[in-house]
Amino acid sequence: MPTDSHERLIRPARNVYGSLRLPGDKSISHRYAMLGAFAEGKSRFTNFSTGADCASTLACMEALGAKVNRLGSDAVEVTGVAGRVTPADHPLDCGNSGSTMRMISGLLAPQTGNFSLTGDASLSRRPMERIRKPLEAMGAHIALTEGHAPVAIEGARLRAIDYTTPVPSAQVKTCVLLAGLQTAGPTTVRESVRTRDHSELALRAFGATITRTVDSVSIAGPQALHGIEAAVPGDISSAAFFMCAAALFPGSGLVIDALGMNPTRATLLDVLTALGAHISVLNLEEKHAELVGTLRIAAPADGLGSTQVSGALAAQLIDELPVLAAIAPSTRGGIRIRDAKELRVKESDRILQVARNLRAMGAEVTEFEDGLDVPGGQTLHGAAIDAGGDHRIAMAFSVAALRAEGETLIQGAESAAISFPEFFDLLDLVAER
Ligand code: S3P
Repeated sequence: MPTDSHERLIRPARNVYGSLRLPGDKSISHRYAMLGAFAEGKSRFTNFSTGADCASTLACMEALGAKVNRLGSDAVEVTGVAGRVTPADHPLDCGNSGSTMRMISGLLAPQTGNFSLTGDASLSRRPMERIRKPLEAMGAHIALTEGHAPVAIEGARLRAIDYTTPVPSAQVKTCVLLAGLQTAGPTTVRESVRTRDHSELALRAFGATITRTVDSVSIAGPQALHGIEAAVPGDISSAAFFMCAAALFPGSGLVIDALGMNPTRATLLDVLTALGAHISVLNLEEKHAELVGTLRIAAPADGLGSTQVSGALAAQLIDELPVLAAIAPSTRGGIRIRDAKELRVKESDRILQVARNLRAMGAEVTEFEDGLDVPGGQTLHGAAIDAGGDHRIAMAFSVAALRAEGETLIQGAESAAISFPEFFDLLDLVAER
């Protein structure tokens, strides 16, 4: 089979074994970059995400007046604009990154001037009404094209709101909080499922006062932020691919160091444990209120069992569902996923892509509007996989391919670089052939 820079051939593995340290968490890197660029003074981040998405955030913030100084591949120094951005004379290119577009919109809505945010073809198909609605309720002027990017913002003085998110979304929550940061009075966001709370922790780290209850978070603006120095914890959503790979091979053993263990991101540990994997977490410490630790994982001797992911779990595991579904045929009892309709509006329609690619590998799968049923006890065969321009699909099927009979060709493998450019090299490091 031919290989070029856009395709990657994945050979089956005998085992997964070794130790790793992963690049910085994408979600935390976005927030540190935005807040550092908005704050007063200098910030310095080490183990900053190496993914293209966070580079998009840095480039947007640079275009808005922040100074960004790259100190090697994963360290960056940012000098902030002290709460007042300079409108750029060109649209801000958010690339493939929904986080960049949705969160920066909240930061810009209360600023002075006109702003336009654009994205690639995938991002231009994703729903933006979810940020327009709360921002307009605050008095912002936002224009979309049929609910999509480009996002045109005419800065305005906003009023504080109390907003309940209709769909659990950390990006929408953050968008409203970043607008609330600059708006007089208390702005509150209520959510039915607690989504990742990196914004709340990061805002506090940069000096803001935030209050929380079980199901709400409030910020009373206006408040100033001050630069920080921080090491970004390893990305647990990137680790998910390696954890799932290790969980597939009896006799496996993987240690991942300096990994982000924020409880709002660590649901996969519970799910893999329920499937029978042996997981332990050592050396837990806090860095700017983010938990960081060493994770060990080994597969059960008799293979993975079965599980169902639905309700709040589906929202908390949303980025890990593609790889869970991709390993499901290799479990004994299969995996059922429901209440995950959001998967259809991610970088691709991930329900469709997972079903299509599992079938290409010979698996039986039933697709639902909000999930998938993937029976266990199925042997995959190598196939040509279309990543559909989606980083998590490219990586999920590279993991499934380790247990397939024959070789698998991942087409569109370059999309892994959106979150995790080192993925294929690290997979080669720990996959024993
Ligand atoms: C993210 C939130 C999630 C997630 C995305 C990153 C974040 O999206 O899927 O990869 O950093 O806040 P939603 O907020 O749309 O659920």
